[in-house]
Amino acid sequence: MSSRVAVIGIGITEFGELWDESYRALITKAGTEAINDAGIEGNEIDGLYIGSMSPGLFSGQEHVSSLVADYSGLAGIPATRVEAACASGGLAFREAYISLKSGLMDIVVAGGVEKMTDSPTSSVMITLMGAGDQEWEAFKGATFPALYALMARRHMFEYGTTLEQISEVAVKSHHNATLNPNAQFKFNVTLKQVMNSPPVAEPLRLLHCSPITDGAAAVVLATEKKAKKLCENPIWVEASAISTDTIALHDRRSLSRMDASIRAAKYAYEQANLKPSDIDFAEVHDCFSIAEIMAIESLGFCKPGEGGKLTEDGETKLDGSIPINPSGGLKGKGHPVGATGIAQIVEVVEQLRGDAGKRQIDGAEIGLTHNIGGSGGTCVIHIFSNR
Ligand code: COA
Repeated sequence: MSSRVAVIGIGITEFGELWDESYRALITKAGTEAINDAGIEGNEIDGLYIGSMSPGLFSGQEHVSSLVADYSGLAGIPATRVEAACASGGLAFREAYISLKSGLMDIVVAGGVEKMTDSPTSSVMITLMGAGDQEWEAFKGATFPALYALMARRHMFEYGTTLEQISEVAVKSHHNATLNPNAQFKFNVTLKQVMNSPPVAEPLRLLHCSPITDGAAAVVLATEKKAKKLCENPIWVEASAISTDTIALHDRRSLSRMDASIRAAKYAYEQANLKPSDIDFAEVHDCFSIAEIMAIESLGFCKPGEGGKLTEDGETKLDGSIPINPSGGLKGKGHPVGATGIAQIVEVVEQLRGDAGKRQIDGAEIGLTHNIGGSGGTCVIHIFSNR
């Protein structure tokens, strides 16, 4: 097995309703930026992994591995599409990482892309719900806001988590997004605005939900030997972990905990030989505000049931003890589902390079990404360091 793997280049588009950008334009833009950032030529790339959840249903375009290779001017190279719902990007990165660790490749691009806003919300909901259990959830009328609402209710019932605490996640995410030039929602919201926003699936309201988004992100990964030759500030992958769980929520051991996250976190900490207190900051999957509270508990930043309090106490803010989602998260930055896992990695790399501008976390050396598919059927976690 080859030695360490590093990220040596990053690229990301603006996130939002990008009606004048096509699917292929978005991913080509992010990929080109990543390749330029790495300072490499196309002919040095050994492979391409693309995370995309549902381009066929969102845009009518399948076979996107070939499409992306073609429109990047790389036709001929091995290209693979990876799908694990909203964890497609994180999993594409992991597949790229494995291809380097196996010794099969030396330099690989991992990208993520989704173009969601060309369809009306009702059909986007149906497409997204393809990531749930069709027979037991979708056919009965459940949507992702509804499934996460069930988790929120159960968390509130078991631990006394309050709607104010859940809402504080959104207030913090929107604030961080104002500091991120690529974010979809660059405006602050107050606790009152979040609590009074229109109901979507009680107790979740509009401002507890991630939006529907277009966007793409890409990173260049290299083996240790190549990274040291090509890059002055490689960001090292310390752990790559995945776990799965039942696809349907009702089959889970608990509605208020995500076993896939708990298991993937355990594997990741073991691989990196680190513990939760060693992590300086994390980008976690806050598709709905309750999901961030459950994520920080699963990652061991606090005990189960204490995520609401940790948030309310301000510990997850940029200047808190464990900053969460400095990018603005899925809530503020946006959630183009297949791109999200790679976008989280782009943020961690920017932070670890010290390039995150106004949202820079002082002295950040170790960052974690946590990317969920569906209601927790997949969880992909990566840990990165700059040393
Ligand atoms: N947060 C904040 N504002 C939002 C928003 C969100 N999540 N979603 C939409 N808006 C804003 C829009 O910008 C628009 O503002 P404007 O009137 O100032 O232009 C307004 O609300 C209406 O937008 P619209 O697109 O009509 O909203 P919608 O009702 O069609 O969609 C949701 C709202 C919550 C249903 C949609 O964002 C959604 O489905 N989110 C969840 C996505 C999801 O499930 N992802 C997968 C997770 S596992």
